[in-house]
Amino acid sequence: MTTYITTPIYYVNAMPHIGHAYTTIIADTYSRFRRLCGDEVRFQTGTDEHGEKIVQAAEGEGVTPREYVDRISDSFRQTWPSLDIAPDYFIRTTDADHIKVVQDILQKVYDQGDIYFSEYSGHYCKGCERFLTEKELVDGKCPDHQTVPEEVSEQNYFFRMSKYQDWLIDHIKSNPEYITPERYRNEVLSFLSEPLEDLCISRPCSRLTWGIPLPFDENFVTYVWFDALINYLTGIGYPEGPDFEKYWSVAEHVIAKDILKPHAIYWPTMLQSMGVAPYKRLHVHGYWNVDETKMSKSIGNVVRPGELVEKYGVDTVRYFLLREMSFGRDSSFSTEALESRRNSDLANDVGNLFSRALTMLAKYADSIVPEIDKATVTDEDRVLVDALENMVADYTTAMNAFEFHKALQSIWEVIGMLNRFIVTNAPWELAKNPDQAGRLNTVLYFLADSLRLLALVLRPVMPTAADKMAAALGQEEELAKATLEEEGCWGRMPAGTMLHQGDALFPRLEKKKKQQTQAQGKEQGKKGKAKKKEAAPDTTEGDMEGLITFEQFGKVELRVAEIVTAEKIKKANKLLKLTVKAPEERTLVAGIAKHYSPEELIGRKVIIVANLKPAKLMGITSQGMVLAAKEVDADGNERLVLSTVAGDIAVGSRVS
Ligand code: MSP
Repeated sequence: MTTYITTPIYYVNAMPHIGHAYTTIIADTYSRFRRLCGDEVRFQTGTDEHGEKIVQAAEGEGVTPREYVDRISDSFRQTWPSLDIAPDYFIRTTDADHIKVVQDILQKVYDQGDIYFSEYSGHYCKGCERFLTEKELVDGKCPDHQTVPEEVSEQNYFFRMSKYQDWLIDHIKSNPEYITPERYRNEVLSFLSEPLEDLCISRPCSRLTWGIPLPFDENFVTYVWFDALINYLTGIGYPEGPDFEKYWSVAEHVIAKDILKPHAIYWPTMLQSMGVAPYKRLHVHGYWNVDETKMSKSIGNVVRPGELVEKYGVDTVRYFLLREMSFGRDSSFSTEALESRRNSDLANDVGNLFSRALTMLAKYADSIVPEIDKATVTDEDRVLVDALENMVADYTTAMNAFEFHKALQSIWEVIGMLNRFIVTNAPWELAKNPDQAGRLNTVLYFLADSLRLLALVLRPVMPTAADKMAAALGQEEELAKATLEEEGCWGRMPAGTMLHQGDALFPRLEKKKKQQTQAQGKEQGKKGKAKKKEAAPDTTEGDMEGLITFEQFGKVELRVAEIVTAEKIKKANKLLKLTVKAPEERTLVAGIAKHYSPEELIGRKVIIVANLKPAKLMGITSQGMVLAAKEVDADGNERLVLSTVAGDIAVGSRVS
């Protein structure tokens, strides 16, 4: 099969920000995913360089439009590789071949009578570079730019868009997948329920010269949208390039909701007029806000992808953007949300899984993938195989539907299962018993093959991390050329493969606020003391000594917590430092080192006292206490067993 995927071509009046990055990461991820499905893929992005906005921006910087567009276009081109975005073609509307294609199309549409000359007056929004209808104005202003449009009255050329209105309604209605998600399809159909006006497609040279001259009237240049949309054809060699038909028949455009109208209305009617089939699909996503506020230069909250990559790495940025936004809905960016996903989803869940599994494979199998011992395969193992194969199927469906967050959710469900698989199968216990050697090999094989599958499905989303995973699994070449069909099933990891334990995939981010939190802790501690003095103790009555009231017990906040990291503390042979989710993350210091090894604790659900005042032990602030039962035998030997819950229950659940 063949895939042709495009992003909008971005205006060069601003530097790339996370909004541009998101759309382009989506298109890149989809193109990598379709390659994984065995497709021949063409992925195109580029820059939109004509129009009034660009002239104004160049004037603002005191340079010519040409100098200006070269510089900013280049910064878009340079930004993409740092985000692991690899387009096959980068188009600029100032490219000579594009200018020729636009002029040829204009001439063709003009010759067949779909362009006419007329007088027009209307509300022109410079930000949108188009005339807005009365209905689109909110309190007399453009709702997107919050500016009052200019009243423009001039003679211009018009495209007979209205002629194609009925055809367009019919096309959208009979192709439910033409515009998705559905809310945007409905928005377009609702707009089309009113009579469609013709489209003004020229600007007089007296007002603007930075554009493509109309081939049939040198006193006018082409309206920027009529020029820009045609990039999707130029880039694949319209009209006679060898690949044009092949790619155009499968064209999919990705845009945000801001440019729905030009893509869903102008573009299909233009194509219909020029005798080119409609594109196949339009995928429309929502807007990124920042800390719940619209991103804008004047507010000063514009988030630059380069800065994020520098700080968090490319995989974290790509993962976060794809996981956090439900495609089609708006989403709010915050560094807290990004850091929390980095620490919980990446460092704890997938990062830990890889490092624990590879450590065990190193320790108990000399880093060589063992043969499965068929006689030892259990029903639970088969459940895991089903879950892994279902994950690949769900992931494929979600990726094809542009539901990237759902695709990632299905991967993370399996990651959770695998972390639990380690705890329930306890390879460290199996390793103690030579009779269990076969079972140990089976468990280790399951882990190695599961990691291989994860590295495969994560490739489109996090190419750099997936390469590291593949290298650790000795599967670099195999996974680089793998397809989902051939490799996306259970049991393809060859026994005997040599593994290499590399560096941690996603080292945990140290919390910057640590000192502040400790200071706050002290502060709260002081307040707590003050409060204690204030509140007269609910003293026990004589015969009730040693008992507490319901109210007193109710003050103790017990919660179910999952251990996500565990490590020994230097010079403290009884203590372990734990990170738990309850559901927020916290650090605990627990005196259980003599009874539990760090590796067997990860993934366990325990009960903690969640509202204990923070206390410092060996320089580490412990924010709570893990409960355990202690038994002391006649010789004074202690045995300690962690308190836990009898069934599966969400972390953070209150124990009362
Ligand atoms: N040049 C036109 C597009 C012509 S396509 C034939 C244009 N350029 S733009 O620079 O304004 O880019 C708009 C696109 O950038 C949006 O459709 C979206 O892909 C991306 N985004 C810009 N800001 C965004 C957010 N705040 N959030 C999400 N995406 C955003 O319009």
